[in-house]
Amino acid sequence: MRIDILSAVPGLLEGPFSDSIVKRAKEKGLVEIVVHNIRDWSTDKHKKIDDEPFGGSAGMVLTIQPIADAIAALKSERTYAEVIFLTPDGEQLKQGAVNHLSMQGNLILLCGHYKGIDQRIREHLVTREFSIGDYVLSGGELAAAVLTDAIVRLIPGVIGDEQSALTDSFQDNLLAPPVYTRPAEYNGWKVPEILRSGDHKAINEWLEEQAVERTQDLRPDLFEKDS
Ligand code: ADE
Repeated sequence: MRIDILSAVPGLLEGPFSDSIVKRAKEKGLVEIVVHNIRDWSTDKHKKIDDEPFGGSAGMVLTIQPIADAIAALKSERTYAEVIFLTPDGEQLKQGAVNHLSMQGNLILLCGHYKGIDQRIREHLVTREFSIGDYVLSGGELAAAVLTDAIVRLIPGVIGDEQSALTDSFQDNLLAPPVYTRPAEYNGWKVPEILRSGDHKAINEWLEEQAVERTQDLRPDLFEKDS
């Protein structure tokens, strides 16, 4: 899978993909992540990529030309399953959509900045729009990093223990059960006895109960909604 990220501030994306699981996925050749500066496609002599909004409201708007040319250039080289725009008014990102995207082909992620992007890009070039939460970031870059991280860890072979990604919180609409490690007792705080019993059937039942209880207590809405 290849993920191309179009940004007006590509420097913001230098860190998130150069460590940990995403770094290893890149090194193993399981994903290619390419960050592009939208400015590189501007045909303006000053490499301008934004302009004042029609109608006179405040803030600057990213113009169509550099973004349309960037998308066209990428599409001329390979096919893309989706062109995704990160925006606070997009569909709220959930595990179900991430699962789906991790099984698709190549993706283009478009990051907004300033007051937004020309609406015609959204209407004619973008195929899906996601928000990572009901708050406004300075741009879509951190949201694109969140989406990329969530997708990449699901690509087969990225996480060593295949089970691990499937037992994450939100898979099956349940929060994950609690986990413990050594020492079995610290400061009088004990690991639940059942986890040290060696009875795997009983342990699995307990873990399932915990997942249901935690979901009921912390996120009862997950029982009501689709992911
Ligand atoms: N860009 C700015 N805020 C955002 C958010 N909450 N989600 C996705 N993209 C954004």
